[in-house]
Amino acid sequence: MAVQLGDIAPDFEAQTTEGPLRFHDWKGNGWAVLFSHPKDFTPVCTTELGAVARLKPEFERRDTKVIGLSVDPLDAHDRWGRDIEQVTGFRPNFPMIADADRAVSGLYGMIHPNASDTMTVRSVFVIGPDHKVKLMLTYPASTGRNFDELLRVLDSLQLTARYAVATPADWKHGEDVIITTAVSDDDARVRFPKGFVAKTPYLRVTPQPNV
Ligand code: BEZ
Repeated sequence: MAVQLGDIAPDFEAQTTEGPLRFHDWKGNGWAVLFSHPKDFTPVCTTELGAVARLKPEFERRDTKVIGLSVDPLDAHDRWGRDIEQVTGFRPNFPMIADADRAVSGLYGMIHPNASDTMTVRSVFVIGPDHKVKLMLTYPASTGRNFDELLRVLDSLQLTARYAVATPADWKHGEDVIITTAVSDDDARVRFPKGFVAKTPYLRVTPQPNV
């Protein structure tokens, strides 16, 4: 059964570039991004891993640990790290799982046989403090991911976990948010003292509560 939103992220033990770990223990009570890339020593993946290393302080500001994965062995991950630094200026500064036996990629459904039966696709799982899966993305090998979008999504997930709000299309941190329909107008006046505008009875917008 494939992992779905709201499931407890499967726990596992793995060998990584930062030593062996058990996923839930490593993650602790914060947030985590688990992402797979298809293959070491490939061009798009090289740019992606450099981009994640560059953004690590932004993930840390969001109490989020990142961990990569491919089915390549540890020594390949280590050697490839030098290329990534040479090309992007950033050496991977987060663990990369060596999933040669495909144990973790199988657990998370990261191999899509009709795309490739030997490589993982570009999967992303965002996992919350409760170890539950909050977001999943799947990209093909030919399209590098936008990791700024992942930070934007983390901002939304963390905000909506704390307040009875949702975020509209293209929302960015600091912009107005939507009061969820479960909140009555009377309740909204109490919960959102900055006030709200009802564009329709079901679409009420309010300034982001925590800025
Ligand atoms: C890439 O990262 O460029 C790549 C990886 C696997 C297959 C095709 C491209």
